[in-house]
Amino acid sequence: MLLQRISIRNFRNFEDETVDFPERGAALIGDNGQGKTNLLEAIYYLEIFRSFRGARDEQLVTFGCGHFRVEAHLSAGAGGEEVEVAAGYAREGRRKKVTVDGREPDRVGEAIGQVGAIVFTASDVEIVAGGPGARRRFLDIILSLVEPGYLAALQRYRQILSQRNGLLRDDASPAELAAWNAGLVDAGSRLAEARARWVGSRQASFARYYSAISGGREAEMEYAPSIPAPGGVGPVVSRERWAEAFHVEIERVTAKERRRGLTLVGPHRDDLRFWVGAGPEAMQLRTFGSAGQQRSAAVALRLVEAETLRAARGRLPIVMLDDVLAEFDPQRAGRVVELFTAEEWGQVFVTSPKPSEFAFMGDSLAEYRVVSGTVRPV
Ligand SMILES: Nc1ncnc2c1ncn2[C@@H]1O[C@H](COP(=O)(O)OP(=O)(O)OP(=O)(O)O)[C@@H](O)[C@H]1O
Ligand SMILES: [Mg+2]
Repeated sequence: MLLQRISIRNFRNFEDETVDFPERGAALIGDNGQGKTNLLEAIYYLEIFRSFRGARDEQLVTFGCGHFRVEAHLSAGAGGEEVEVAAGYAREGRRKKVTVDGREPDRVGEAIGQVGAIVFTASDVEIVAGGPGARRRFLDIILSLVEPGYLAALQRYRQILSQRNGLLRDDASPAELAAWNAGLVDAGSRLAEARARWVGSRQASFARYYSAISGGREAEMEYAPSIPAPGGVGPVVSRERWAEAFHVEIERVTAKERRRGLTLVGPHRDDLRFWVGAGPEAMQLRTFGSAGQQRSAAVALRLVEAETLRAARGRLPIVMLDDVLAEFDPQRAGRVVELFTAEEWGQVFVTSPKPSEFAFMGDSLAEYRVVSGTVRPV
């Protein structure tokens, strides 16, 4: 889809702003702290109805205001399908309302993915270098966007997990606990199966992108499930096998769980591992990678995400690049630019404090200046 127009009210430092964008996209130029990232955050909010920076909804409301609203007009190109996506949030009662063409879906989750966008930011490096929570969040977002039933299973899993943890803390009887195990295993095995299948099917792409960015270096992405993988990790393992394995493992650790008052096994403890090098020389990027290697892996991972969206949707994603080149050495920066240029995108938004950086895809992009929460074509 193409973002033709966005209206933003009381979101971060945007008071009341409506901007029209051309089909190719825009280069967003502005000094630090003017609202460039906030604008991308508003656009991506309409994709997943959450902040891509991990901020809570109440942090997105302009200081001193009660609610925000973001509204976009998207189209599939001249004469193509059109859609209006809107989201509002009120501090009072923490109410979130989402509409697609004016209609409110039964669940917010049904409306995700309408924009079809990817954001590359300098903080993506956290996915590779940070704690496992960031990697699970990455998996959950992409799989919620492309895998039917994933988000529902995730919500169910979280709910059962919190109930079960409550029971473990309250010293509930084994029978009471067992009553929740079936649900946990059912929802959890769906998550594990989908995660394993996604990683298995995208490993080669990850390695290819990493190699392209790093000038021929090898890298690997590996699913590290909390449930002992039945018969090795791969796209071939069925959900039933994951369920069996999950069940066996729960039985094995239940006594320990009762002592600790916590569910110790399941997708909430999964991880995704990134390696560089090959064979015995391979090292884990999270612990041993240089900042540049970690950044390269993060960019490769986002490119894999874009590929996943293209394949699932059959249309080109909108790409947003927020300061991604900033910390690369000139060779790597050059290769990243080449890669981005070679990929197919629906529309491109790039931010930078300096107009000069837009040699990068931006030659043909219309320039917009962002100044304290306003956006104007140059
Ligand atoms: N809830 C909020 N209400 C009002 N202003 C906010 C809110 N949250 C953040 N801001 C303001 O938004 C500004 C930061 O905007 P943003 O992160 O988009 O900057 P930027 O243009 O991307 O800058 P940089 O080039 O440094 O990345 C800050 O001035 C901050 O005070
Ligand atoms: Mg910024």
